[in-house]
Amino acid sequence: MKIEMEKLIAHLKAQGFIFQGSEIYGGLANSWDYGPLGAEIKAKLKKLWWGFFVKKNPHNLGLDSSIILNSKVWEASGHLRNFNDPLIDCKECKSRWRADKLIEEKFPELNVGGWTNQQLEEFITAKKILCPKCQKQSFTNIRQFALMFKTNQGVVEDEGSVVYLRPETAQGIFAQYKNCQRAMRKKLPFGIGQIGKSFRNEITPGNFIFRTREFEQMELEFFFAPSDNFDWFEYWLNQVQTFLKDVLKIHPNNFLVREHNKEELAHYAKRTVDIEFKYPFGTGELWGIAHRGDFDLSQHQKFSAQDLTYLDPNTNERYLPYVIEPSVGVERLMLAIFCQAYTEEAVENGERVVMKLPNNLVPYQVAVFPLQKQQNAAAEQLYEELLVDFDAVLDVTGNIGKRYRRQDAIGTPLCVTIDFDTETEKTVTVRDRDTMKQVKVALSELKNYLTTKL
Ligand code: GAP
Repeated sequence: MKIEMEKLIAHLKAQGFIFQGSEIYGGLANSWDYGPLGAEIKAKLKKLWWGFFVKKNPHNLGLDSSIILNSKVWEASGHLRNFNDPLIDCKECKSRWRADKLIEEKFPELNVGGWTNQQLEEFITAKKILCPKCQKQSFTNIRQFALMFKTNQGVVEDEGSVVYLRPETAQGIFAQYKNCQRAMRKKLPFGIGQIGKSFRNEITPGNFIFRTREFEQMELEFFFAPSDNFDWFEYWLNQVQTFLKDVLKIHPNNFLVREHNKEELAHYAKRTVDIEFKYPFGTGELWGIAHRGDFDLSQHQKFSAQDLTYLDPNTNERYLPYVIEPSVGVERLMLAIFCQAYTEEAVENGERVVMKLPNNLVPYQVAVFPLQKQQNAAAEQLYEELLVDFDAVLDVTGNIGKRYRRQDAIGTPLCVTIDFDTETEKTVTVRDRDTMKQVKVALSELKNYLTTKL
């Protein structure tokens, strides 16, 4: 089903998943806050990633490094030098554009990533590329726009106090690679995973939570010997797809695997594959898997003047490990999950919106209803009992049909109703979100029944 982004955004807001950031002050462009249900899904998603990529993987460790790092980290990583975009302004209508994107939109076969500003300016003039807004060709010179948020640490705002909000979590891992390896007495191969906020002063944020200036990343840096013959790239590429398909239940028809061609590769990458999701606004990057070689460790070794080599206990050789990096944004993954889950269905008396979320991500696993007011106390008691083992919610307002719709709209897989037979027969009615079928279940069997269904 092709969904409309406006409808999805309105639904997520109305149901308490995602709100516009700073809304009571008119909002802050492209910032989004996660409401009670969105926060719940986000926490579950991060826990699933951590479980799969860190805790349950025999090779890996976890880390939680700072957002603000010594600025030398960004000199070493190349972010201070390379992490900026070439911007031009239209003198006529005052709109601002990325020069490289203006060219690539007209000439999609070109990859202008490595071009100098002069080359970009000359090409725009020669090919008479116009301002997409006013259709004139009257551009300023290109200015480089830094993508890292800059601030000052301490009371004095001078050059020496300049620090940056990290634009990726990866560099915190590289900077602590040696400590992790030593403290945990790890032998290669091993990986370090991290989840945390990253910040990029994106020029073209948008498409809801697809590209924002503040976001969270889940990154794994996997270190291995350059002489290791095992294909760790394929291994992680497969692991990512297994996680998407088997854990998050993302349908294979909804994403594709795209290999970067040589011209497209980032300066540090030996190989990169993107998993792209078919979002309603077009296909876009969801998850990147990059072979970074020893680029990062060798840069940090150079800039820190610390020995970051690994002494191989088998060969007695010293070398810098190679790195495979699977990196994904939490919000971009949530958007994919929401896009797949959002379903409009015709039902007997109209239409229903159902969030067909996988059971391991739903905000609530089970909702408890009384059929009538007189059963409120019994429903409350059952709700409190279920809370011990399940993520449960109690709903006593509106009629039963409305309550089912409300739970469908937030993805609750099972609804349990205290009905007319509960007191005498000791049974309840359990209704399934997807099939809408109802069955009678003995109260004594309820916990087992719910456990097998969830
Ligand atoms: N350490 C490598 C790295 O950061 P990236 O391709 O720039 O590589 C990795 O980012 C992932 O982070 C992307 O695949 C995407 O899921 C997410 N991401 C990047 N920029 C983002 C943004 N502005 N908003 C939301 N997610 C973003």
